[in-house]
Amino acid sequence: MLVSGNHILSKALKGKYAVGAFNTSNLEITQGILEAASKLRAPVIVATSVKAIRYAGGPKIFALLLEELSKKLKISVVLHLDHATDIALIKAAISAGYTSVMIDGSHLPFNKNVTLTKAVVRYAEKYKVSVEGEIGIIKGSEDYIKAKKNVLTSPEEALRFVKATGVHSLACAVGTAHGMARGREKLDLLRIKEIARVTHIPLVLHGASKGVSPSDMKRAIALGISKINIDTEIRLAFTGSLRKSLQNKSVYDPREVLSRAREDVSETVQKKIKLFGSSRK
Ligand code: G3H
Ligand code: ZN
Repeated sequence: MLVSGNHILSKALKGKYAVGAFNTSNLEITQGILEAASKLRAPVIVATSVKAIRYAGGPKIFALLLEELSKKLKISVVLHLDHATDIALIKAAISAGYTSVMIDGSHLPFNKNVTLTKAVVRYAEKYKVSVEGEIGIIKGSEDYIKAKKNVLTSPEEALRFVKATGVHSLACAVGTAHGMARGREKLDLLRIKEIARVTHIPLVLHGASKGVSPSDMKRAIALGISKINIDTEIRLAFTGSLRKSLQNKSVYDPREVLSRAREDVSETVQKKIKLFGSSRK
């Protein structure tokens, strides 16, 4: 069934593990993510970007799909709207059945980010939907979200932001990058420690697909990262699998290549769940 992000993330913060937030854009990726979570009995967040929602034809498509599959597999799933920048889509997603939303006002001046995020929290709380805000800027690109360089989150600003908005979880810029743009950034563990110490809410690591060593990832989780976003690695697993399967010219049944790609997504997600420590939680 679909559940709110709050319960799952506060449990993760207390238990010092992280819940994977895996981005989907179609049926087979969604199935692959849920199959992995069901196999490992792990809580899971399925995330859709604004572009994924446009591609599918609206938030209701994902809400129906996730409601149906989570019931069938008997697992708890959070359906999350990733990097929304306006409240209209947030309202549409909540009315479709989304149980968690991110309002990304990170491109705005601090006060405007606060005003927008606070309005989303007020609205979402009426429906028991959890809200993630963002402070700082994460380099790279993911669909419509693009930034040339990182502006790392200041712990002092993070605290003011959390107090002023009442957000339930916080995305912060701590050295990772979105998409394929990986520079020489290194995960800033001391910064994570300090942000966690002052905010006391689940922290979210974006741009976590590549460039973070497994040992740093584990350290970050122990320090307070409770939600970890993976999109690029899933896209690479899916498209890489299709490319390989389609080399065989005698294959013409789409279900054949898509089933293989679905399995490859599931394997990628299973590896992440094990690394994040959320199996059997
Ligand atoms: O919001 C989604 C994630 O931040 C995606 O990051 O490009 O490293 O997979 P990624
Ligand atoms: Zn992101």
